[in-house]
Amino acid sequence: MSLWRTKPVSTVHADSGLARTLGTSDLVLLGIGAIIGAGIFVLTGVAAATLAGPAIVVSFIVAGLACTFAALSYAELAAAIGGSGSAYGYAYAGFGELAAWLIGWDLILEYTVAVSAVAVGWSGYVNDVLAAVGLELPAALRHGPHEGGVVDLGAVLVIAVLGATLAIGVRASARFNAAIVLVKLLAIAVFVAAAAGHVEPANWATFAPFGWSGIMAGAALVFFAFIGFDAVSTAADECVDPQRGLPRGIIGSLAVCTLLYVIVAALLTLVAPYTSLNVASPVSTALRNAGVTWAAPIVAAGAIAGLTSVMLVLYYAQTRIFYAMSRDGLLPAPFGEVHPRTRTPVKVIGLAGGVMAAIAGFVPLGAIAELVNIGTLAAFALVCAGVLGMRVRRPELHRPFRVPGGPTIPVLGVVACVYLMASLPAVTWARFFVWMALGLVVYFAYARSHSRLATDPASS
Ligand code: ALA
Repeated sequence: MSLWRTKPVSTVHADSGLARTLGTSDLVLLGIGAIIGAGIFVLTGVAAATLAGPAIVVSFIVAGLACTFAALSYAELAAAIGGSGSAYGYAYAGFGELAAWLIGWDLILEYTVAVSAVAVGWSGYVNDVLAAVGLELPAALRHGPHEGGVVDLGAVLVIAVLGATLAIGVRASARFNAAIVLVKLLAIAVFVAAAAGHVEPANWATFAPFGWSGIMAGAALVFFAFIGFDAVSTAADECVDPQRGLPRGIIGSLAVCTLLYVIVAALLTLVAPYTSLNVASPVSTALRNAGVTWAAPIVAAGAIAGLTSVMLVLYYAQTRIFYAMSRDGLLPAPFGEVHPRTRTPVKVIGLAGGVMAAIAGFVPLGAIAELVNIGTLAAFALVCAGVLGMRVRRPELHRPFRVPGGPTIPVLGVVACVYLMASLPAVTWARFFVWMALGLVVYFAYARSHSRLATDPASS
């Protein structure tokens, strides 16, 4: 049995048992649903105040460029290989089971921790709104034990509701997502319209107070704001026409969001001095401080909607990766079953939701959230490298979408992602290595011997 056993592309395309109902516009909305959230509504303020200053605009452009390279690479592999396992599936077909396992393990970390982190942010926003109308929850139910409470109840409840939505069906989830995406886009439009009248050019007098290293550290942090377009690729088995729809969904959603981010970051730092932005809700706070009180609640509502759709889509993506890995035998088989009526993987949805809720409700998150960024950057770098590798190993593969310009863009993608990883703190690197080492242990102790490639020779 070779360490590098691979799965033929034809089995990656095989019928997954999931229902094919998503069109291109659903995919673009799914992408926007996953992308616009805590990154722009929360982290922009911290990053501007403590890392980059008004040059946070440049940080967004740098992070957006790295993501563009990765998005183009994702689009090529998604259209040529497909499969709901996303980068996990591409690695399986192109580089063998061990590479696939490592990238799948990495993506599970990314999506699980991201959902938990955003759930805590969601709960904070909702508690603020409840407090404003006199309905504040008791402190014991607002924070986990690390902050002197018992459980972050809001975070647990929102994950439970999203899990139920995902279990009902992907069509219902896509409709729910489309509705909340409209609310958050409306909130951004309101912010732009309201802020445009209160621009104060003096706020940009010192544009880059922390120099280039601050801009890069800012980029590594606001990279979080772009995470999610990759989740579109996990919908491959549920798209009506994946070869056309996936590239459009991935690139379209990223393009819309990058444009909005640069506009919002520029206006935010022009309306408010960057030093005033280190708060939990910088976008609505900046408006309030500028005297635009009518717009602040609308923007806060949009932020809550935004965080909700981010959790929904990343939760969805996590379950599809887990499901694909279970169907391949690398994770326990019951998680590779779909419910006969809803045709959704309800057991994975339940397990993932339980773990996400436990993390969000009880565990301190702060620095762990940076794990999301390092994990995602590693996955993106591997996807860019995967495009190069597949062109050498499988030149004959039909590629409905090709990254333009030969190898340049995938190479730039690897360099940009590794450079951003290098801008993250050492402790984040250490945690990341621990998770990946644990992955290797699980692979050799369980996954390798239970793999369908080992137990069912006909599948290889
Ligand atoms: N991009 C997502 C957000 O900003 C993860 O919340």
